[in-house]
Amino acid sequence: MFTIRPGTAILGATIEGLDAAQPIATGDFARLLIALGRHGVLRLPDQHLDEAQLRAFSERFGEIQGAIAKEAEAGRAVPEVGTLSNIREGGRYIGFPDAGQDWHTDMSYRDVMGFVNVLYGVVIPRRDGRALGGTEFANMHAAYDALPAELRDRLADATVTHDFNQYWENARRNGADRPPLTPAQRSTRPPVVHPLFLTHPITGRKVLYCNPGYAARINELPEAESDAMLSFLFAHQLRPEFRWTHVWTENDLLVWDHLGTIHRAIGDYTRDEPRLIRRCQVMATKVFTPDFLAPVHAAHAAM
Ligand code: SIN
Repeated sequence: MFTIRPGTAILGATIEGLDAAQPIATGDFARLLIALGRHGVLRLPDQHLDEAQLRAFSERFGEIQGAIAKEAEAGRAVPEVGTLSNIREGGRYIGFPDAGQDWHTDMSYRDVMGFVNVLYGVVIPRRDGRALGGTEFANMHAAYDALPAELRDRLADATVTHDFNQYWENARRNGADRPPLTPAQRSTRPPVVHPLFLTHPITGRKVLYCNPGYAARINELPEAESDAMLSFLFAHQLRPEFRWTHVWTENDLLVWDHLGTIHRAIGDYTRDEPRLIRRCQVMATKVFTPDFLAPVHAAHAAM
């Protein structure tokens, strides 16, 4: 039996007494999912996981998005576990040095959207004893609730086109060292359409499913109106009262809900301040299915 200790901010709870390297019983996992829906980001401190254990823990939530090309090329035994790092070996970064530094939701640009990210802190940069390279989140349940009622009604059935190339090009404009996507790469990631407001499968509440990284167009509005509305929504969803930053400690296991939050990595450290995080990106292949949700509903009913 583990303890859920909610933080005092708009997001975040600490899970104490759960060893993520061990199998988790169905009832306990349902409690974890309910906490995830409610608090958006769960921190499991002082975890000791090898990569196979990190993959096994992540797979409880759904399918991992697949082998990462860079990890497979490097001959890593568990290529579903990605590496976020500014560390160089043999003149090359051992992972992605600048991933996720603009506000976004992972995989909103895919037909099957992302459900959770599972990140494991291995090396955390520090300056004068202070941890750097935090991960910042914004709460999309709260953002939806705070929208004017008239706007929620008017856009109730609206859909949004999400485009991977938009994020890529913005990162390049902001100085990221990456070439443009080739036509072949673009064709593997065509734009996709999702509802603007989603019913969250765990909380049953509406969330604003939209993010500055990938959301390119509200399809039901003329282009100029769509641009103006997206600008309004991007500013709205990043209001300070919806935001919270996780400050990393080595051996933190961080699990967050992509459906109810947006996030960004804070690039406030230099090349001489090493950061190494292992990551599994889990897709929403299970979370909308009745079988997956049945124990969640049973646990809700028992509360
Ligand atoms: C991500 O967007 O998954 C990266 C977050 C981080 O490195 O803090």
